[in-house]
Amino acid sequence: MSGRRLEGKVVIITGGASGIGAEAARLFVENGARVVIVDVQDEMGKNVAVSIGEEQATYHRCDVTDVSQVEDTVKFTVQKHGRLDVLFSNAGVMEPFKSFLDLDLDRLDRTMAVNLRGSAAFIKHAARAMVDHGTRGSIICTTSVLAEIAGSGPHAYTASKHGLVGLVMSACGELGKYGIRVNGIAPFAVVTGMSTGGDPAAGKYVEEYCAAAGNLKGLVLKVII
Ligand SMILES: NC(=O)c1ccc[n+]([C@@H]2O[C@H](COP(=O)([O-])OP(=O)(O)OC[C@H]3O[C@@H](n4cnc5c(N)ncnc54)[C@H](O)[C@@H]3O)[C@@H](O)[C@H]2O)c1
Repeated sequence: MSGRRLEGKVVIITGGASGIGAEAARLFVENGARVVIVDVQDEMGKNVAVSIGEEQATYHRCDVTDVSQVEDTVKFTVQKHGRLDVLFSNAGVMEPFKSFLDLDLDRLDRTMAVNLRGSAAFIKHAARAMVDHGTRGSIICTTSVLAEIAGSGPHAYTASKHGLVGLVMSACGELGKYGIRVNGIAPFAVVTGMSTGGDPAAGKYVEEYCAAAGNLKGLVLKVII
């Protein structure tokens, strides 16, 4: 992105305290947007907001699995900034890889609650705010390469991301009539707290894995719409 093409836009970023969400918050602000960073890692979230500048970035605690907190976060954003233009629904968790024979169904519920239900709750309340204000907004969900393939990642995570693609397609089929776009982006492996399991030393291994398994590494794709 270049220039300040998001001047005046108001953006909620879930999972904005670290990794992809934190970098997205910086990029949105560089392009002129004001962002509300949503997460459950309060100290990290506040640090991201302070490092960006509190005029443009605010941290707001919200557990995406709690629908009343989700609703409250959308209300907070609209009260503070008068509108909501973009939801970047990006918060996610990934359980450790285990054989299906040892599938932990409680972990599966937890993964679904964050990755799928949390996105559904945010899409619902963000879209309501956009419709109420007549805003032709944009909703973007972080899916994963594991939403397109299966067999190389944890089972619950893979299922949740496949479900998220269905949710995106279903939501965009209806919300388009209000001028609201709903899209998913599917990153390949990126060195973050999630992919390294919180172990910074594992970053090198993740980078090596990306380089070996990624067949588009280094290419710049241009999409013309
Ligand atoms: N890193 C990768 O290789 C990769 C690849 C494909 C997709 N993704 C997706 O990218 C997104 C961002 O992940 P990341 O790699 O930046 O990892 P990350 O762990 O750095 O970021 C995820 C953030 O989500 C937050 N979060 C988790 N549960 C939450 C909850 N209940 N409520 C609010 N926030 C919550 C975490 O606190 C964390 O800050 C995720 O949806 C992930 O599935 C990551």
